[in-house]
Amino acid sequence: MVQRSMWRLGAACLLFLALCSQTKADYQIGVGIADSTGPAAGIIFMGYAKLTQRGYGLHLRQWSRAFIIDDGTNRIVFVSVDTGMVGYGIKEAVIENLEALYGDTYTVQNVIISGTHTHSTPGGFMDHLLFDITILGHVKQTFEALVEGITGSIIKAHDSMVTGKIYINSGTLLNANINRSPASYDMNPDAEKELYSDNVDKEMVQLKFVNSESSEVIGAINWFPVHPVSMNNTNGYITSDNVGYAAILMEKDLNGGAFPGQGSVVTAFASTNLGDVSPNINGPICTNTGEECEYVTSTCDGEAQFCIASGPGDDMFESTRIIAERMYGKAVEILEDTAGQVEVTGAVSAINQFVDMPAQIVTYTLGDGNEINGTGCIAAMGYSFAAGTTDGPGEFDFVQGTTSTNLLWEVLRDLLAPPTEEDVECQAPKPILLATGQMVEPYDWHPRVVSTQLAFIGNVAIAAVPGEFTTMAGRRLKNVIKSAMSSDATVIIAGLSNHYTHYVTTYEEYQLQRYEGASTIYGPHTLGIYLNQYEKLAEALVTSTVLEPGPEPYVFDRDKLFSLVFPVILDHPDLNTKYGTCILQPPSSVTAGTVVTAKFVAGHPRNNLMHDSTFLRVERLDGDEWVLVANDAVWETKYRWERTYLAASEATIEWTVPEGTIPGTYRMQYFGAAKSLFGRALPHSGTTNTFTVI
Ligand SMILES: *[C@@H]1O[C@H](CO)[C@@H](O)[C@H](O)[C@H]1NC(C)=O
Ligand SMILES: *[C@@H]1O[C@H](CO)[C@@H](O)[C@H](O)[C@H]1NC(C)=O
Repeated sequence: MVQRSMWRLGAACLLFLALCSQTKADYQIGVGIADSTGPAAGIIFMGYAKLTQRGYGLHLRQWSRAFIIDDGTNRIVFVSVDTGMVGYGIKEAVIENLEALYGDTYTVQNVIISGTHTHSTPGGFMDHLLFDITILGHVKQTFEALVEGITGSIIKAHDSMVTGKIYINSGTLLNANINRSPASYDMNPDAEKELYSDNVDKEMVQLKFVNSESSEVIGAINWFPVHPVSMNNTNGYITSDNVGYAAILMEKDLNGGAFPGQGSVVTAFASTNLGDVSPNINGPICTNTGEECEYVTSTCDGEAQFCIASGPGDDMFESTRIIAERMYGKAVEILEDTAGQVEVTGAVSAINQFVDMPAQIVTYTLGDGNEINGTGCIAAMGYSFAAGTTDGPGEFDFVQGTTSTNLLWEVLRDLLAPPTEEDVECQAPKPILLATGQMVEPYDWHPRVVSTQLAFIGNVAIAAVPGEFTTMAGRRLKNVIKSAMSSDATVIIAGLSNHYTHYVTTYEEYQLQRYEGASTIYGPHTLGIYLNQYEKLAEALVTSTVLEPGPEPYVFDRDKLFSLVFPVILDHPDLNTKYGTCILQPPSSVTAGTVVTAKFVAGHPRNNLMHDSTFLRVERLDGDEWVLVANDAVWETKYRWERTYLAASEATIEWTVPEGTIPGTYRMQYFGAAKSLFGRALPHSGTTNTFTVI
């Protein structure tokens, strides 16, 4: 008898353990990072739509960071990449690469690619003509650099998978973001605003990945809403901006000081509902008079150009560093807060459905709880789009908060494509500046069918959205998804994922037609469409229902994309010089804080992107060996390139000697490639005289 009940007890325990370990089973997790830096000079940057913001060098490289999570049955991939945004062409090309390697393991359904939204990287990778036109057309080299980097990071994650645990935690970061369109935010109902302490989200949410066996952190994804526009529209150095530098700082910390991209721990600072969120926390000021800007229109004496936000540093590099350090500091605090973290358990699943935005008819709830009916519109941009923002004003006489039209602009607009009467009505009160949805020659200027995607890891949802949701738009989306899940679910918005469609404001914010409202391209009910759509996706995942994939997004003929960006034809040094000759030597001795500068006879950097390599090295003599102190991916160095005469050019490299640098003998090296008349890009290098750090 006794034996028998013991046996039963044992069986019950085993069964219990089996059940528990089933629900608490660890995941298979992989992380990877790869170089996706575009051409280091000569290409206009993507973000500010400023034709004069052409790249002239490199401060921080662009990295793609990939995270794979597998529950034994299903797998998802989350990628955060240092770029303005991603277009669907990029996702297609990445999936194609992965298909060739791994069959149907990685698909449109389970791969999320989210851009960090830095405004300081080369453009021309977007396909849809409106996005590439301010770059003067498609740039194959930028496109391929991104595709290669994203694919590479996923391959590395795939090859590094270990048994691991996932934790979720969050923290409050108060001094790193402000709302740049508070007048729009104010349009939301008071009762709704009272639910929140601020007009931007101050919470940083973190997923932490830990190796089950060693208990070591292998990676983390941090989501904190802020535009990576600490670097303003006068900058020509490629940089991943505040979020990119935060990631570099955190990885350096967790990888024992390894150079960027070279450690095994990968930490991303990914984009979220940052639509109306600025890092320039000193706020806007009239730079011509020192007065406050007009609140609703962000103007100074009626003009937008002078109303510019900045801070917290004295210049844009300082501001980038300070915002980055604050985000990094908070992320580490959250990482170490093991008391506050919650283990994520449960199944992994993902779904993607394409949506024909203008074809949607919806009924949804506004901020005051009332229902409204609405439809999607054919894409169009409003006048205030051209006004830009206080993070980077536009070029002409446009101002934000405009609902009236101008005859001259209407004439110009109609030359491109006149909007129909239905367009005007549907988009109201937005005055249409560009009827982009009607602009289909020589191919589509704006997407019409867009990707909507949702992934679950247990009761954490990642909503991959095809644009920039404002603070309140993001909150409403999170609430809708959460109510389709459970009360203890966490919903994360992964901004600028898979497709790019500019902004998504609330219906109420849209009425004011500031920049974000004017850039909500499918009209006042754009958010309403997404609220219903993501609720549908959430319900499908909750009930394990398979949805139709939806209509196919526009397919481009990649060989026929418009471009006025020509390849490098030829490099030729000035008479009597050779590539790699150092034409400006560093001083013979320097101290911490000094900017050491050297100049070399160079070729065009577009001849070689130097992925997994560097345009420069700073080295210290150790015994009889030169050891690497800095490369082109660290904060302390800058690479700058300049055409000096026809085919001749110069590269300037700079190293700011950091505090605590070991005294000794140093030298700097430059690396490049030059194109001969026969089209070959041949490598060259140069080395400075030695100098002393004292
Ligand atoms: C950009 O930042 C620099 C300081 O780094 C400042 O001098 C310049 O006025 C700023 N320009 C704009 C357009 O914000
Ligand atoms: C929305 O449309 C439905 C069906 O046409 C109608 O019954 C309802 O009254 C409308 N709601 C509003 C708020 O207009």
